[in-house]
Amino acid sequence: MEQATTQEALRKRLDELRQLLNEYAYQYYVLDKPTVADSEYDRLYHELETIEADYPEWINPESPTQRVGDQLLDGFEKVRHAEAMYSLGNAFSEEEVDAFIDRVFKQAESDQIQFMCECKIDGLAVALTYEEGRFIRGATRGDGIVGEDITTNLRTIKSLPLQLRQPITAEIRGEVYMPKKSFLALNEERDALGLVPFANPRNAAAGGLRQIDPKAVAKRNLNLFLYSGVYTESFSPVSQANLFEALEAAGLRTNSLRRLCSTKEEVRDFLRTISDQRHDLSYEIDGIVIKVNDVSTQQALGFTVKAPRWAIAYKFPAQVETTTVREVEWTVGRTGVVTPTAIMDPIALAGTTVQRASLHNIDFIQALDLRLNDQITVHKAGDIIPEVTSVLVDKRTEDSVPLDIPSHCPECKAELIRAEGEVALRCVNPICPAQKLAQLSHFVSRNAMNIMGLGVKVIEQLLTKGFIKDPADLYYLTEEDFLQLANTKEKSAKKYYTAIQGSKTNSLERLIFGLGIRHVGAKAAQLLAQSFETMANLQLASNEQIERIDGIGEMISQSVVSYFGQTESLELIKRLIEADVNMIYQGITLAEQADTDSYWAGKTVVLTGSMETYGRSEAKVMLETLGAKVTGSVSKKTDILVAGEAAGSKLNKAQDLGITVMNEEEFLRSIEKSEKSE
Ligand code: IVH
Repeated sequence: MEQATTQEALRKRLDELRQLLNEYAYQYYVLDKPTVADSEYDRLYHELETIEADYPEWINPESPTQRVGDQLLDGFEKVRHAEAMYSLGNAFSEEEVDAFIDRVFKQAESDQIQFMCECKIDGLAVALTYEEGRFIRGATRGDGIVGEDITTNLRTIKSLPLQLRQPITAEIRGEVYMPKKSFLALNEERDALGLVPFANPRNAAAGGLRQIDPKAVAKRNLNLFLYSGVYTESFSPVSQANLFEALEAAGLRTNSLRRLCSTKEEVRDFLRTISDQRHDLSYEIDGIVIKVNDVSTQQALGFTVKAPRWAIAYKFPAQVETTTVREVEWTVGRTGVVTPTAIMDPIALAGTTVQRASLHNIDFIQALDLRLNDQITVHKAGDIIPEVTSVLVDKRTEDSVPLDIPSHCPECKAELIRAEGEVALRCVNPICPAQKLAQLSHFVSRNAMNIMGLGVKVIEQLLTKGFIKDPADLYYLTEEDFLQLANTKEKSAKKYYTAIQGSKTNSLERLIFGLGIRHVGAKAAQLLAQSFETMANLQLASNEQIERIDGIGEMISQSVVSYFGQTESLELIKRLIEADVNMIYQGITLAEQADTDSYWAGKTVVLTGSMETYGRSEAKVMLETLGAKVTGSVSKKTDILVAGEAAGSKLNKAQDLGITVMNEEEFLRSIEKSEKSE
C-alpha cells in the first residue's frame, strides 16, 4: 500500500519535473529569456534523471533527458516529404525585387498585397514532423522530394521542442544553423587539432547534422528558426504573419527580424535596414526572403517547376573580395604553434577595411599554392574573421615569389617541429619569448585573471627587462619596477600594481583558464574548478576522475593530467601559492547542496529491499544531498548497506564482506540527525 502511494507520488513528481524543465528550456532556448538560474535547472534535471534511473519504464522520448542518444547511427534512412520542398527564385538587385513585386501585382490582379519580408538564414532546410504535438521525425531537404532522416541528431538541438504546446499534426519547416560564435570556436578547435577548418557556418551545420555520433552533434551547438509548414486541419494559418503567430503559440522558435510591407519602398527599406545590421547578428544570413503574406493569394499564384511564384530570395552581394598578397607573417602563439597570416593590399569587406587574413597552416598554403604578389580572394568566416579562400593562379604574374616556409622560430630562432600527423608547425623552446608573451597576455586577459590595463606593450617591456619570466613573477613586482618602464608614471605604476594584487583573490576557474593548459577553455576551466574545488585536488586528479565530469572528454583530461605531470607547472603553482594567489573555487560547487560535514558525506551507499517511509529514489536523493554516493551493487568499496524489508542477496554479500548494514529505523534516525546538524 505504502509502496504504491510512494510510487504514485514519484510519478507525479516526474511529470511535474518534465513540465518544469520543458518550460524553463522553452524560456531559455526559444524565447531567449531565462527565468531561473542554471543551477536550479541542473538540480531539477538531476532529480528527474534519478527517478528515471529507478523507473526506466517511465522514460518516454519526450523527456528532456532523452535529447542526446548514446548509440552511434549506422547511416540515414531516406524519407519522402509530405509535400515537395521547393527552393526559391533569386533576385540579385533591388530592381529585380521590384520586378518580382510588379509581377505579383499583375498576376494577382491587385496592388493591395502585403509581403512578409524575412531574413534568409544561411543554414540548411529541415522538415519536422509533429504528430499530435509530439516530435516524431526530422529530415533534411535532400532533393526536395526525398530527404534523409536525421531525427536523432535534430533532437540534440535544445530549442527544438520534443513536445509542442498544442496537439498539432503537421510538417513544420525551417532552417538549422550554427551561430557565428560556435562556428568560430569550432574552427579554432579544428585549427588547434590540425583539422581543415569549415569554410562557413552552413557547411559546419550540415556536417554537424550528418555525424553518426549524436553526442558530437550536441557539441556543435546548432540552433534553428522555423518559417513554413505543410498545412493540415490542425495547422492552417491564413497568412505568413498568422503562421508565425501559430508557430510561436506552439512553442516553436521563429526569427523576430521580419516585417510586413505593403509597398516596394517599404520592402526596399527593410532590405537596406537588415543589410546594414546583418554583420551584428549572432547568425549568418545571406539575403532576405520576400513572401506574399496571404495564403489564399499564395495558392492563387502557385508554383513554377522549381519555385513558388509568391516568394523570392533577395541575395546580398557576395562578400568575397579580390586583392594582392604582399607578405606572409608567421606568429608564435602561447602553445608554440606558428601560424601564417597574409598581409594584403587593403580592401573593404563585410563592413570593415581588411589588410590581414588567416592562412591557417602550411597544408592550407600548399593546397592554395600561394605565392607573394598573387591575387587572392578573401572572405570573412562567420562574418568576422578574414580568411584567404583562393588564389587566382591564372592571373599570376612574373613578379610572383614562392613562399619560404620557416624552419626556425621567427622569434627565438629555435628549430621548428612538425609532429607526425599534425599540420601545425611548433616552436618547442620552453623559453621562447614570443610564447611567453602570448602566455602572459592570455594570463592577464579578461576571461582569465582579468588584470585590467596590463597590455601587450607593458608585458613586452617587463619580459625584455627581465622583470618577469612567467605569470607568478607578476605578483612579485613592485610599483618601483613599473616606474622603470618607458612612459610609465606613478599613476600607471600604481594602477598596474593594484590590478595585479587585486587578481589574487579571483576564484579558481580564472586561474585554471589563465594557465593556458591546452584544450582547457573558459568553460572547461569552470567545470574543473566547480568539480575539484581546489587546485590541489585538480593536481591530484586522475584521467578517470576528470572524465567523469559531464562536458569534459578524453582530450581535455589527458591535457590536464600531462600539464600537472610537468615539474615546470608544479613549480609555477608553488610560486603562485607563495604569492598568496587564491587556489579555491568560490562559486557554487557541484556538491552544492551536499553537506560535507554530515555522517554520510563521502560514503558509498547501497540501498536494497523496500522501506516503509521512503521509496528508493527519494532515499537516494536524500543521501546524495547529504554528500553520499549511492551505487547499485555491493562491493568492497561500499561503506554502508541500507536494507529494507525482504532484502536478498545484497544483504548476504554485505554481511560476507563485513560492511555496515543499517535497517530502516537506524537509517531514519541517522538521516534525521544529519538533517538537524545542518
Ligand atoms: S521559404 C517555398 N524562408 O533558402 C518556400 N526559406 O533559397 C521555401 N531559407 O531552401 C523556403 N531562410 O533553406 C524560406 N525565411 C526563409 C528562409 C529560407 C532561409 C532557405 C531555405 C530554402 C532556401 C531557398
